[in-house]
Amino acid sequence: MCGIVGYIGGKDAYPILIKGLKRLEYRGYDSAGVALLNGSLNVYKKKGKVNDLVDFIDDSNVKGSLGIGHTRWATHGVPDDINAHPHLSGSERLVIIHNGIIENYAPIKLWLQTQGHEFKSETDTEVLVHLIEKMQKDGDLLIEEAVRLALSKVVGAYAIVVIDRMDPDKMVAARKSSPLVVGIGEDEFFIASDATPIVEYTNQVVYLDDNEIAVLSRKEGLKVLNMENEIKTPLVHEVDMKIEAIEKGGYDYFMHKEIYEQPKTIDDCMRGRLNAQEGWARLGGLEQYKKRICNADRIIIVACGTSWHAGLIAEYLIEDLARIPVEVEYASEFRYRNPIISERDVVLAISQSGETADTLAALELAKKHGALTYGICNVVGSSIARITDAGSYIHAGPEIGVASTKAFTGQVTLLSLMALVIAHERGTISTSRYQELITELGQIPRKVEEALTCDERVREVSERVKNATNALYLGRGYNFPVALEGALKLKEISYIHAEGYPAAEMKHGPIALIDENMPVIVIATNQSAHEKIVSNVQEVKARKGRVIAIVNKGDNIMKDIADMVIEIPSTLEPFTPLISVIPMQLLSYHIAVMRECNVDQPRNLAKSVTVE
Ligand code: AGP
Ligand code: GLU
Repeated sequence: MCGIVGYIGGKDAYPILIKGLKRLEYRGYDSAGVALLNGSLNVYKKKGKVNDLVDFIDDSNVKGSLGIGHTRWATHGVPDDINAHPHLSGSERLVIIHNGIIENYAPIKLWLQTQGHEFKSETDTEVLVHLIEKMQKDGDLLIEEAVRLALSKVVGAYAIVVIDRMDPDKMVAARKSSPLVVGIGEDEFFIASDATPIVEYTNQVVYLDDNEIAVLSRKEGLKVLNMENEIKTPLVHEVDMKIEAIEKGGYDYFMHKEIYEQPKTIDDCMRGRLNAQEGWARLGGLEQYKKRICNADRIIIVACGTSWHAGLIAEYLIEDLARIPVEVEYASEFRYRNPIISERDVVLAISQSGETADTLAALELAKKHGALTYGICNVVGSSIARITDAGSYIHAGPEIGVASTKAFTGQVTLLSLMALVIAHERGTISTSRYQELITELGQIPRKVEEALTCDERVREVSERVKNATNALYLGRGYNFPVALEGALKLKEISYIHAEGYPAAEMKHGPIALIDENMPVIVIATNQSAHEKIVSNVQEVKARKGRVIAIVNKGDNIMKDIADMVIEIPSTLEPFTPLISVIPMQLLSYHIAVMRECNVDQPRNLAKSVTVE
């Protein structure tokens, strides 16, 4: 959580920091703050959004060509002005911004208190900057040395940037388990939690590794050290990110834009990996380990939230087509339950951000047990992409809305390709079925485009259910994970309690909730279980539930039973989720807008969960 941005060079830092913070706001929006150095060290911080900070600063002194900024997702201490970052050291010589958690902050704080330190905030971060200052004073150290020494005493996760008022030509950054990217411009450096605040100025970046310290200096350039104080040679990458991709482009919300990008992002995900005319699918990332993956005893999928739902769909896909047993685990549960992992297992991590702390930790456990690890990420150069043995990017472009949409369909597309490649290699599907599936997958971007034409109909339906306090989502087979995803979308952005259930499971409990006020969203597109779903809908109707059915075009049976029907194009069953999720996304979007919720930045949430 938290967005971090820093600038050192010849330009005015303030506008760069504010613009950067707005781009990073998806990571946290409890408070925002900046520190600027121009002889004096000026710190401004405010509870709320970046715009609240800008209003608060108004025409104060924001001069300075060296500065840092932070947008917070609180872990230690309530979101208020005092707990907002940046935090000053006791003598106000140092100032820090931090993303992560200092797990052993309590004993350090106690010890520092015995040494006379007084703290203003409840944060773990303030303890760290006091510790750095203590090290610096006691040893008469350069700031980078003090940072290194202090971090050697710290347990936890961090990305930090520190400025020393007495050393005004440099800033020092360090990371462990939280991302940091350095941008290299002409006689200037940028630093940020991801590349979005940087790409406007330079496409040359260095992704810092865990346990690395970077010194960004006007006089000496960029120096990267490890915790043993050895110099490392930074690897400069070229980022390929267009500014349009990180702007709203005429839409009211990023989420709506991202929903509409899906025909293109699915196409991008398949580019060079699927050729429907020639009838082949391949995945570069898989090639080197194809044999090992095809012969795996088991594929274990670890993920969180929406990515976990994509994992559930992968279970259906891989077991159905490639006949390898699959287990799908919440990363947070997997890592703490002493799971059985062998060298013959493949552990697949799915993560949009590639930075989710629980997923990263699950991967580390898998590696320790000798399993092959494979990452499916969106953010290029992210931690998961870098620590896995192999992997594939979904190429969905920056996803800024906190509610994941295009990343989900990207993940499911990638997993569909993967299932096809493995199935073909293992000979578990016939050549004609393989060809049929490939041809159909090639049609998906066009069908998603067609599905998006239901937007207006979904808006009408939303109008009728926007005041509900609960909702039930039902689906069977491939559509069961889509029901879970629909419910998660509604919960997170419109704050309506919603549950996803396998349609047939409803009669084992949740049916007791059904009355005339309860909207029941039924995904009824499956060909194989269609009659069964019709029966499930009859059961809901018999209890006066309000049924919204998502059906394939021309499904007249459901039209007669359901209260409201939303039509979408049909596809082969394994690819149904790619189409049926579209009305789920739109429904939550419209309801959230009607309820005047902040669609892109729902309360209490952040895009990237880099803490446990
Ligand atoms: C989705 O809408 C969520 N906001 C959330 O569940 C998300 O999918 C989860 O935190 C996992 O993130 P990741 O894909 O970046 O690992
Ligand atoms: N632990 C710090 C705080 O509460 C940083 C939080 C974060 O990175 O999410 O302020």
